[in-house]
Amino acid sequence: MKYNRENTEKLLQDIFQKKILVKGVVSNMKGNYPYSKVNIKPLLIKNNFFFQFEQFQNNKAYHSNLNMEESIEKLKELLDNFKQFMIFTTEGDYQILKGKNDFTVKETKKTREITTLNHNKTKNYILEEGTPIPFLIKLGVMGEKGEVFKDSYNKFRQINKYLEFIDDTIKELKNKNLIGDTIKVVDFGCGKSYLTFALHYYLKNVKNMKFTIIGLDLKKDVMDYCNKVARELNCENLEFLTGNIKDFDKMKDADIIFSLHACNNATDYALLKWLELNAKAILAVPCCQHEFNQKMSSNKNSEFFNIENVIGKHGILLEKFTSVATDAFRAQALELCGFKTQVMEFIDMEHTPKNILIRGIKDKVKPETLEKKYIEYETFKKFLGIEPILDELLKPYFLIK
Ligand SMILES: C[S@@+](CC[C@H](N)C(=O)[O-])C[C@H]1O[C@@H](n2cnc3c(N)ncnc32)[C@H](O)[C@@H]1O
Repeated sequence: MKYNRENTEKLLQDIFQKKILVKGVVSNMKGNYPYSKVNIKPLLIKNNFFFQFEQFQNNKAYHSNLNMEESIEKLKELLDNFKQFMIFTTEGDYQILKGKNDFTVKETKKTREITTLNHNKTKNYILEEGTPIPFLIKLGVMGEKGEVFKDSYNKFRQINKYLEFIDDTIKELKNKNLIGDTIKVVDFGCGKSYLTFALHYYLKNVKNMKFTIIGLDLKKDVMDYCNKVARELNCENLEFLTGNIKDFDKMKDADIIFSLHACNNATDYALLKWLELNAKAILAVPCCQHEFNQKMSSNKNSEFFNIENVIGKHGILLEKFTSVATDAFRAQALELCGFKTQVMEFIDMEHTPKNILIRGIKDKVKPETLEKKYIEYETFKKFLGIEPILDELLKPYFLIK
């Protein structure tokens, strides 16, 4: 059906005013408009109705939440600058194509429903999108107005998820009277330190705690950069050191140790340090679990290869199995050292493949369960047919010999 500009504007206005919009996709930009594509969706923020305009520029997304009046003005601007509008409503779908002198409007049966209007994406996060956070701006995750850049969304989610785990861990440590209002934290293999800065922001601005944080990494240039950023952001009680986890000998009374995405055996050395420093909790998200893969692949006479050759003969399945086995072995070893140990999903697989979090918290151990756990541990090791480095590192700390 052919519509003139006035009727097209009226159609869209009605959809907005009746609040029946599910989603709008505006594309095929003409001229010099700063954004190449715009997505529109309805949104409730603190019970107020908005439309969110997600505007794309050079692969970055900029979000503005506009009220009804502002949205209708925005619509006019979009009609001036784009040629294609896909409008999904609770009553029907509309494809609107702009021609030289008029618009072609095609209406079809509805294909989508509104699932929720709540601003869930940001509402449940500890760090909220839309609130400018200095370290996130400095590290290029969000813009000056607090808008999260599209290609940094995974990082943003990961940081928030990480803070949720910290929040839970701090609560548990407090409940067990293992810490008060002061906390000392080491972040092993901190890299560019998004998470270390997030922790600093969180402890200072959200938890209002007294703290000391050390980030440690092998890379001197990266640590120099992080110290520079920390100075520029006036982050007190946060220091970045260059060094190997194995040799770390500062902060002898650390409360929490993190080791996030430290490769291969770096996680094992972080676990050992945790025990040496007598820390109260550790959060480890391992990655690149190569050791088990290499060792198991060079012992094809093991029970594993006898019994589970259906897995062992496929390289990719063996790799997945050895990753799981490595982390299972780590969790069991920590339990044998007397810690309540949980293995949890760190973040949805959709967002990162490195998604296993091992969390250990000091606990009272029932001696009768230790023996069973030790038998399981030894049986598993024998089944795999290897001598893991972790065994050598942690065995001296086992509560059972
Ligand atoms: C994949 S990055 C992870 C960075 C950060 N933790 C994160 O999750 O975003 C792993 C970091 O661990 C560091 N690393 C690996 N082995 C280490 C070791 N033995 N001692 C200190 N740092 C180590 C690397 O230099 C690298 O910066």
